[in-house]
Amino acid sequence: MSGAGVGPEVTVFVPAKVNLDLRVGPLRPDGYHSLSTVYHAVDILDEVTVRPAEDWSVEVEGAHAHRVPSDSDNLALRAARLLAEQAGDDGTVGPVAIRISKSIPVAGGMAGGSADAAAALVACDELWGLGCTRAHLEEIAARLGSDVGFLLTGGTALGSQRGEHVAPVLTQGSFHWVFVLSDEGLSTPECFAELDRLRADEEVPEPEPPAELLAALRLGDVRAVAAHLGNDMQQAALSLRPSLSRAREVGLQHGALAALVSGSGPTVALLTDSRTAALDLMVALSAEGVGDAVVHARGPAPGAHVVRTTGCALR
Ligand code: C5P
Repeated sequence: MSGAGVGPEVTVFVPAKVNLDLRVGPLRPDGYHSLSTVYHAVDILDEVTVRPAEDWSVEVEGAHAHRVPSDSDNLALRAARLLAEQAGDDGTVGPVAIRISKSIPVAGGMAGGSADAAAALVACDELWGLGCTRAHLEEIAARLGSDVGFLLTGGTALGSQRGEHVAPVLTQGSFHWVFVLSDEGLSTPECFAELDRLRADEEVPEPEPPAELLAALRLGDVRAVAAHLGNDMQQAALSLRPSLSRAREVGLQHGALAALVSGSGPTVALLTDSRTAALDLMVALSAEGVGDAVVHARGPAPGAHVVRTTGCALR
């Protein structure tokens, strides 16, 4: 249901992410792990619309919408409320109804919840005419989740500390991906806990940025990028969901340059060297019955950005 034309409303598009490299360091005293990661935004987009309302609410539509919380646990709702709290009451800030049209897999290792939070921050900033600086939004984003700040920025970026410190990475060209989706999600905390269990006897070093991958990205050399993709979480995701190895194997058999679990899974990311190769790969995967769905996406994609504004007062 669209509320367009009946009052002020702001719509934002926000991309999904895949981690081109994810190195997980030791568990910190605060319960998080220190990370070095290369985030890469891809054009699987959620659409988030906000409008002033009597009370705070969120409504989710699209595939697997029923698996997204529509109560106060919803990260987009928490983002909007936190921004409102920070802004204080100056008459323009008040409850919003949020509508999310979901394409990003739910609990899929592609930061769907974080993406919606980033989108809600950008949308409410615009709706309320706050004119927040990027630094201010990033500060709020970091309080909501480790990936939220990256989804504000998009593109390709190096994440450090617990993932919330983000610095842009120079890349050339674009990359064509096929993502193999699973209907049943994996829990990120459970995946980190499984990794801790698997590495219980190891001395885990502080993670370093991946120099070869960063060089390959700078050159836009897709084969070198493919050779240097990596994800420490993959072993944990495969341990929790062994069936994921089939998507990787079949993908590689049918021409993927590389196959890796996206973030904490269960989505599997397959890199190809062209749009045609990606579409051929999707056909082959579907014929083999791999995964619950396959989607093509291109990266890098821009971060959360306003695509439509109606009836908002200009300051
Ligand atoms: O930051 P975010 O809320 O997205 O993280 C979800 C969970 O993933 C955390 O509660 C924690 O269990 C785990 N995590 C972690 N180390 C990180 C990021 C997340 O252990 N750097």
